[in-house]
Amino acid sequence: MRCTVIGTGYLGATHAAGMAELGHDVLGVDVDPGKIAKLAAGEIPFYEPGLRKMLRDNLDAGRLQFTTDYDEAAAFADLHFLAVGTPQKKGEYAADLRHVYAVIDELVPRLTRSAVIAGKSTVPVGTAAELAQRATSVAPAGVDVEIAWNPEFLREGHAVTDTLRPDRIVLGVQGDSARAEAMLRELYAPLLENGVPFLVSDLQTAELVKVSANAFLATKISFINAMAEVCEASGADVTVLADALGYDARIGRRFLNAGLGFGGGCLPKDIRAFMARAGELGANQALTFLREVDSINMRRRTRMVELITSACGGSLLGANIAVLGAAFKPESDDVRDSPALNVAGLLQLNGAAVNVYDPKALDNARMVFPTLNYATSALEACDRADAVVVLTEWPEFVDLAPAVLAETVRAKVIVDGRNCLDIDRWRGAGWQVHCLGRRVA
Ligand code: UDX
Repeated sequence: MRCTVIGTGYLGATHAAGMAELGHDVLGVDVDPGKIAKLAAGEIPFYEPGLRKMLRDNLDAGRLQFTTDYDEAAAFADLHFLAVGTPQKKGEYAADLRHVYAVIDELVPRLTRSAVIAGKSTVPVGTAAELAQRATSVAPAGVDVEIAWNPEFLREGHAVTDTLRPDRIVLGVQGDSARAEAMLRELYAPLLENGVPFLVSDLQTAELVKVSANAFLATKISFINAMAEVCEASGADVTVLADALGYDARIGRRFLNAGLGFGGGCLPKDIRAFMARAGELGANQALTFLREVDSINMRRRTRMVELITSACGGSLLGANIAVLGAAFKPESDDVRDSPALNVAGLLQLNGAAVNVYDPKALDNARMVFPTLNYATSALEACDRADAVVVLTEWPEFVDLAPAVLAETVRAKVIVDGRNCLDIDRWRGAGWQVHCLGRRVA
């Protein structure tokens, strides 16, 4: 089949390469000529394991091309994916949909044959129906445009697997849809043959699946972090608690890792946009609990600074702190709303000298926080440190050798912001260990 993917950011670039990998002819479209030139040359402007290889393989095989030209896009295929960004509006919780509308306004008037536009971006419920009206009003005479919604659930760091082996495919279609389901079934045939569940719904339900999935995940993380607060107050251990809860199959252990909480380009903005939309729909009471989920999450960052302060003897003034981790999670170079970088900034604000190291996110971190010190290795960051703090659970930090680090630091004090370290190993080597949600020092 042929399809276009409009918007070649994180989501679009991965989807375009993934559809080509399934054997389709794909045209990636973006208004940013720099981005398009890079992708066409086999380069991706962010770190994602396995994506560069998938991109290059498919460019070489001639199944994947890139353009900035909407005329070319309109002529190329009858199935167009919409994968542009929906950031949080400045100073508001609501999502900014200008890029989504721009795609309809640019693409639809150029169509000469009937087409399906399948949205992948995360949007407030009701957006797809609005886009359908807008598309009808700008479509040339005789050209029928169907809007469908096919949300994307990919996780950073696992985007290739999540695209080629998704847990499920959800497709929302218009009430009078004639073509979307058959087209998408054909496109995803290799996945459906492998038994991936395919759910068809109305447009609103499909839009809601994505935001409610993210709201649930955020809630699960904040739940365990709330338990961590209670553990801190009562002397209990949140990691053992999470293990014990997780054996109940109804609860499950995944996403019960207590620590610094969630960040990134999706969870924080999605729960806020969801609250804003519920308010517009007159259903704001239904989601007031998400405000609490958000504040539990943000409290973890200040709690982490308190914990580091007490690990440093009560004041950060003049303390030399090694911060290991800047990305919002491992296997990513993304620092958007990163708890790690946030904490690094707060430490500096409180008078500490902060030396940050991250295996992939240093360049992005430097752009956001140019005034922090950046090291080129974990060992360098720890040079004469009064405390080492692990804020992103990269495997190389989990595997650090306490004895090696001991030779470079000023004080053998380590603070584990992700409950990822083998505490006994560190204590055994004479380190003082501090954690969120458990008393171990
Ligand atoms: C998320 C959703 O998982 C994905 O389905 C959706 O498409 C986009 O948003 P992502 O932003 O890549 O994906 O991150 P995710 O793996 O969900 O982690 C989010 C944050 O939660 C990270 O900062 C992570 O460190 C934190 N987290 C995760 C915890 O604090 N504890 C956990 O147990 C799990």
